[in-house]
Amino acid sequence: MSTSDTGQRLPIAFDDHVLRQLAGDFSEQQLLWLSGYFYGRYAAGSGSDLAAAVAQVAPAQTTPAAAGRRLTVLYGSQTGNSKKVALQAVEAAQQRGLNATARDMNDYQGRELSKEEVLLVVVSTQGEGEPPVAAEELHRFLGSARAPKLPQLRYAVLALGDRSYLQFCQTGRDFDERLGKLGATALAPRVDCDLDFHADARQWIAAVLDVLGQPATSAAVSIKRAPAPLTTEAYSRHHPLTAEVLEKIQLNGRGSTKETYHLELSLAGSGLQYEPGDALSVIPTNSEALVEEVLRATQLSADAPVLLKGERLRLATALTERLELSTLSRDVLERYAQHQPQPKLRELAGATQQLQAYLYGRDAADLLVDYPAELSAQQLVDTLRPLPARAYSLASSLLAHPDEAHLTVGAVRYDAHGRRKQGTCSCYLADRVQVGDSLRVFVERNEYFKLPQDPSANIIMVGAGTGVAPFRGFVEERAERGASGLNWLVFGNPHFTTDFLYQTEWQQHFKRGTLAKLHVAFSRDQTDKIYVHNRLLEYARDVYDWLESGAYLYVCGDKQRLAATVHKALVSVVQLESGASLEEAEAYVRALKKQRRYLEDVY
Ligand SMILES: Cc1cc2nc3c(=O)[nH]c(=O)nc-3n(C[C@H](O)[C@H](O)[C@H](O)COP(=O)(O)OP(=O)(O)OC[C@H]3O[C@@H](n4cnc5c(N)ncnc54)[C@H](O)[C@@H]3O)c2cc1C
Ligand SMILES: Cc1cc2nc3c(=O)[nH]c(=O)nc-3n(C[C@H](O)[C@H](O)[C@H](O)COP(=O)(O)O)c2cc1C
Repeated sequence: MSTSDTGQRLPIAFDDHVLRQLAGDFSEQQLLWLSGYFYGRYAAGSGSDLAAAVAQVAPAQTTPAAAGRRLTVLYGSQTGNSKKVALQAVEAAQQRGLNATARDMNDYQGRELSKEEVLLVVVSTQGEGEPPVAAEELHRFLGSARAPKLPQLRYAVLALGDRSYLQFCQTGRDFDERLGKLGATALAPRVDCDLDFHADARQWIAAVLDVLGQPATSAAVSIKRAPAPLTTEAYSRHHPLTAEVLEKIQLNGRGSTKETYHLELSLAGSGLQYEPGDALSVIPTNSEALVEEVLRATQLSADAPVLLKGERLRLATALTERLELSTLSRDVLERYAQHQPQPKLRELAGATQQLQAYLYGRDAADLLVDYPAELSAQQLVDTLRPLPARAYSLASSLLAHPDEAHLTVGAVRYDAHGRRKQGTCSCYLADRVQVGDSLRVFVERNEYFKLPQDPSANIIMVGAGTGVAPFRGFVEERAERGASGLNWLVFGNPHFTTDFLYQTEWQQHFKRGTLAKLHVAFSRDQTDKIYVHNRLLEYARDVYDWLESGAYLYVCGDKQRLAATVHKALVSVVQLESGASLEEAEAYVRALKKQRRYLEDVY
């Protein structure tokens, strides 16, 4: 072991002068990138590809002291995660003497970019690779001919996303590419974060600020968390609350094609708080049947020892409790392809359209059968991705149900590729969790899908199926608070007799006046299908009048069908009732979204 200039002992057996020789003629900038590259190689070798990406940001090299330098942290966020990270970045930058400000893309003009010198972008991806509403305009502007050249700008991008989506972190990628094309210089390579973004975000902030200014003291690097306003954040994916199930009720009547459960959980003694509009994430386990399919396909022993994040486990335990099996993603296919002699799988992982078709309805056992490979238990564990928690909209108000959290869960079951399949978490809750059992949960705050601050504002709530869940919490909350604003629910599901979720509660609210309007769309109760968007068109005059008088409109439920059809119906409502052209009506609806008066919580 040798010793460096600073007296630190180098953990590897070569001298500092060897390093100096290697560095040779490299410029400061090149050294910056190289240090990141090597650290990235190291981190990749240590098993974390995210850490590798993060580490490509040079850990210690800095430009001259940057005290007082202006820094803008621009965020584009749908549920508040990117905003949270942006605020952490500002706080950390201020601790290092930088003049940092957080700006919401929703209120940011593209032409302001010409005045920026240093820009950190934190942005999530929504839909299928689309920007969040708040980022849409800036995203479009940067890709347009109107975007200015930005040679003065130095920037870094942190992309938030979810690896289960094929267009992983697409919006962050777009921002990175577009800023680069406009002549801006990347301070550091972009980092793409999966759902569990906190640690990566913290590392990215510290690393980018290291590049920008004096390296922080260790105290400054560890970003102080603002005292959580609610005890919500005391519990997380890594420190979930164990909550007892108090009630579990099947909401659909006999003969329904749907299977929806109402669950009530106890939060007693936990201090856990939430607001209507937030979601509760549940950490599930995989079913025994699926674990057995995987073991059968690999011919591996359930008892084979494996190492997962430094913990020694039985393979069956890792498969049951830690690894995602019911869905596949591109990164899993890419890793698996390394153990697979056929080039076909590698090609498939690289071809988005074919990959999308392949992934639909296939699970880990399908992949192992379709493309057999000899792999050890450890290689299997290293190939699969961590089992993510699943989010469920909170269907209750703490004011109406102190110390309780209610959920509305639709069981996902389908036949595909020769087997009956089950959604991991929904069927864990439907089949294996009983009253008296405990669930591991934490709150996912949704900063924007919230009731209006003004209790006198009217609200229109459009929900289909389990999409009604947050609206139960909304109406309870407004009833408890005695809010004077009117509540209007438009609810859809297949049949009146079997699928009118929370029917008696809505009727009671209607009687008491805490629900001013209730319209239902039972799609299969008549020959012509009727959906919630049809009801919006039918009551176009009222919808338009309410919107004109400042009402908020909320949409919750199916991402693919509901969000798009409701959007289209609203544009028609505006056209019909105001005589606006299609373009004007679209601009009207877009403005509602920008003002955060038209809010979606779709999945
Ligand atoms: C903010 C938020 C709030 C949510 N709120 C609710 C809620 O209130 N209630 C609720 O029930 N859910 C809600 N969800 C959805 C929930 O998080 C889960 O995605 C859902 O329960 C399915 O998870 P699972 O583990 O059961 O299924 P998974 O194991 O994740 O399997 C689902 C996957 O199976 C595949 N699949 C499903 N059906 C078919 C089919 N017919 N053919 C082929 N493949 C298919 C698809 O690839 C799908 O992605 C919410 C999601 C978000 C992000
Ligand atoms: C309906 C929906 C669609 C999403 N689509 C994508 C996607 O296409 N690609 C991706 O990487 N992440 C996707 N995500 C994941 C989000 O980007 C991720 O949850 C992120 O942390 C949200 O950050 P925000 O609160 O700042 O918007 C999606 C999430 C939801 C709920």
